[in-house]
Amino acid sequence: MTITPTRTTSSAPAPAPTGGNVPDGADPRVTDWVESIARQTTPDKIVWCDGSPSEYDRLTRQMVESDTLIRLNPEHRPYSFLARSDSSDVARVEARTFICSINEDDAGPTNNWRDPIEMRSTLGELFAGSMRGRTMYVIPFSMGPLGSPMSKLGVQVTDSPYVVANMTTMTRMGTDALRLITADTEWVPAVHSVGAPLMDGVKDVPWPCSDTKYISHFPETREIWSFGSAYGGNALLAKKSFALRIASVIARDEGWLAEHMLILKVTNPRGRVFHLAAAFPSACGKTNLAMLRPSIPGWTVETIGDDIAWLKPGADGRLRAINPEAGFFGVAPGTGPATNATAIETLWGNTIFTNVALRDDGDVWWEGLSDTAPDHLVDWEGNDWTPASGSPAAHPNSRFTVAASQCPTIASEWDDPNGVVIDAIIFGGRRAHNVPLVVEARNWEHGVFIGATVSSERTAAAEGTVGELRRDPFAMMPFCGYNMADHWSHWLSIGRKLGNLGTAPRIFQVNWFRKDDDGSFLWPGFSENSRVLEWILDRVDGRARGVDTPLGWKPADDGINLEGLQITTRKREKLFEVDPDAWLAELESTETFFGGFGEKLPAELSTQLADIRRRLKLSIEN
Ligand code: GTP
Ligand code: SPV
Ligand code: MN
Repeated sequence: MTITPTRTTSSAPAPAPTGGNVPDGADPRVTDWVESIARQTTPDKIVWCDGSPSEYDRLTRQMVESDTLIRLNPEHRPYSFLARSDSSDVARVEARTFICSINEDDAGPTNNWRDPIEMRSTLGELFAGSMRGRTMYVIPFSMGPLGSPMSKLGVQVTDSPYVVANMTTMTRMGTDALRLITADTEWVPAVHSVGAPLMDGVKDVPWPCSDTKYISHFPETREIWSFGSAYGGNALLAKKSFALRIASVIARDEGWLAEHMLILKVTNPRGRVFHLAAAFPSACGKTNLAMLRPSIPGWTVETIGDDIAWLKPGADGRLRAINPEAGFFGVAPGTGPATNATAIETLWGNTIFTNVALRDDGDVWWEGLSDTAPDHLVDWEGNDWTPASGSPAAHPNSRFTVAASQCPTIASEWDDPNGVVIDAIIFGGRRAHNVPLVVEARNWEHGVFIGATVSSERTAAAEGTVGELRRDPFAMMPFCGYNMADHWSHWLSIGRKLGNLGTAPRIFQVNWFRKDDDGSFLWPGFSENSRVLEWILDRVDGRARGVDTPLGWKPADDGINLEGLQITTRKREKLFEVDPDAWLAELESTETFFGGFGEKLPAELSTQLADIRRRLKLSIEN
């Protein structure tokens, strides 16, 4: 049940507070906009955030007092907090996420479209008085290093102090970002309300939210309006709403890419440095790969980003990337010393945990943190828990919020305003069947086909049935702010630009999740994924042989270093098996999926599909 404080029914709305602590020199467009939102939402107070440690300290103390946060035992987890969300507000709500472009066709068949005029009227009613009894915080922020030519600015207003605290870690936020907004700078306005106005005298709840949820985007006017949720991507509007949905539209117009990708730096035993960008659907291993500890000697992996990459052809004609975020909002369950030791070290303190379990000693726990669970915990819903409880102690989409700078493997160039040169792009997904451990695309167009046909088993990161196979092109299904087929055309055009210069990154597909007949994973994954990176980067370096398959180039039989692993020849063959019948059936479904885009489907993708089909049929004949 959602505990929503009583909505105000008072006929005369409270007068909008004016001013607040408006910083000197704030751009009048920003102050006018803030005033107008305050008139609409009628908060009791306006606070302009400066992003300082004392502000964070004040906010977190206040949230401990109001039971929104629990302070963890500082002996175990200094300066860290646990938040328990409402049990109905635990993940992104894709069915309530809308792209409100003027033409429906510009949202495309993979988005929920709403007419912008109708949506404005719906939102107008919802936001009227929605912040009553609360404080409206103003958060100016920069996505990307302050002042970088690749960065973008925004301002979020919110009535949730929890959102402010998370945005402090996840973005470059406060006075310095506001200063960068001058008369002629572009900035994206983002309005957020938990949708739970407080009547006079009504006591607040620890996690206010509403059963009515709207996560709305207006691509033409580059605005975001989010109502009813305080959770992750629904509420930290700089992240999915801005850095992916709105930024993907800006990027299309300006000739760059905003993608759901991690960025990592790899140094090979010969000292050559590479940078990779890799797209995996939500909760499919981006944070793990971004923090990989190689199991093979001589290789070093450093972290640049774990969720979002902005990629742009640079002045040198090479594709360069920045991580627009300043922190990690990572999946807790499954994060342990064996699977992601780097994340465990990153989380030593200064962390907000959301929906994990609380130990009796005041520290946190989640499934996968240790092999055996403590005898007693308080679970994510605040109930007593024992290993016999039969339900997970931490919610499967419980998360940690921590600064990127606290990661021991953060690369020195992670906040380089010019970004890093990308040598290879990887597409992955959670596929029990069909998709081999690794293949290399024949060329950029084939790579775009691989990206466009990413499918993955659903995870707990959004509502829906976990495990169900669904299409997630470019891992951007829930995050592309425009027609997905136009996104593919845009990728093709970026490829032509880089291809003409001979500087395009090579494209690969990976799958850590292929299963054996008994349902066990065929590949050990995690640290051992470094063996796949070795092959990929040796390919880029011109040192590894590829063997042609209908799906692209795979490693030769001895191409992947399996030394020290217990992988039988049967398992190795199964990892790379291409079952032509299963693939012909998959292509049938791909053709239907492509058909949904009508005229917008780029011809190159139909050509790729026909080519792979022809190769598969040939492989059956031979
Ligand atoms: P978002 O933050 O939701 O975008 O997700 P993400 O892609 O960063 O997800 P994350 O890295 O946190 O994925 C976590 C899940 O993937 C956990 O369940 C991990 O156990 C699992 N995972 C990651 N790498 C591997 C791997 O190599 N093998 C297997 N079997 N599971 C993996
Ligand atoms: C994802 O779901 O892909 C995330 C988490 O990265 S959230 O910010 O909640 O969208
Ligand atoms: Mn993500």
